[in-house]
Amino acid sequence: MSQIAVFGANGTIGSAIVREALHRGHQVTAVVRDPAKITESHPSLTVTKGDVLDPASVRSAAAGRDVLVSAVGGGDGPGHLATIEPAARSLVEGLRALGDQAPRLISVGGAGSLRTPDGSLVWDAPGLPEWLLQIMHAHGDALDYYRTVSDVSWTSLSPAATIEPGERTGDYRTAQEQLVAAADGTSRISVEDYAVAVIDEIEQPQHLGERFACGY
Ligand SMILES: NC(=O)c1ccc[n+]([C@@H]2O[C@H](COP(=O)([O-])OP(=O)(O)OC[C@H]3O[C@@H](n4cnc5c(N)ncnc54)[C@H](OP(=O)(O)O)[C@@H]3O)[C@@H](O)[C@H]2O)c1
Repeated sequence: MSQIAVFGANGTIGSAIVREALHRGHQVTAVVRDPAKITESHPSLTVTKGDVLDPASVRSAAAGRDVLVSAVGGGDGPGHLATIEPAARSLVEGLRALGDQAPRLISVGGAGSLRTPDGSLVWDAPGLPEWLLQIMHAHGDALDYYRTVSDVSWTSLSPAATIEPGERTGDYRTAQEQLVAAADGTSRISVEDYAVAVIDEIEQPQHLGERFACGY
């Protein structure tokens, strides 16, 4: 059983990660800007207030935990620009302040910087709207930053191109730098199975200091 703190715990992906962690017997702290947004109650769930952009808040949320998960997002493109890469820096600064006691970090990433079967990057596909490109590149900037960090243990997990609420099958595939796609070219994963992949990585770390991707 691990002690897991989750930023973004009331979001679409973060709430699935919280549910999966509780389902698998972990102790979870949901770290949210507005605790009233967490309506779920569970004997192993604690709710605390925190802002991922405040390193002191990160430090306090992370203290005494085994793993810190960040599933934060910024809504539209400009919101992501203001949130994603600054959050990466704040998370690392807050964890650094805990020195040897810092838990490992698992951050929800983006699919834009993954390679498609023809070798191009997802975000180079023609016709992508500007708001989506901003989100993809915000995640790319955060990943570039994480890759400069060697004194905090981090992992970034990029979802498939499409991630939405669906079924928990427990079956998914992983890749390193490639978009995980089916034979027909579609790339998708349910938020429930993405959450399974996050908790699998927590229970059996295989991607310390690197990004990996998951999908069907
Ligand atoms: N295919 C892909 O690559 C793909 C697809 C979907 C999502 N994603 C990424 O996955 C992440 C999560 O997506 P989602 O759909 O679950 O987003 P979401 O439902 O909008 O949830 C975002 C969460 O972030 C929290 N948050 C934002 N700023 C915060 C701050 N300063 N401090 C603490 N919490 C903060 C929000 O809390 P409040 O309620 O307080 O605002 C919310 O809980 C995003 O980064 C998104 O870009 C990637």
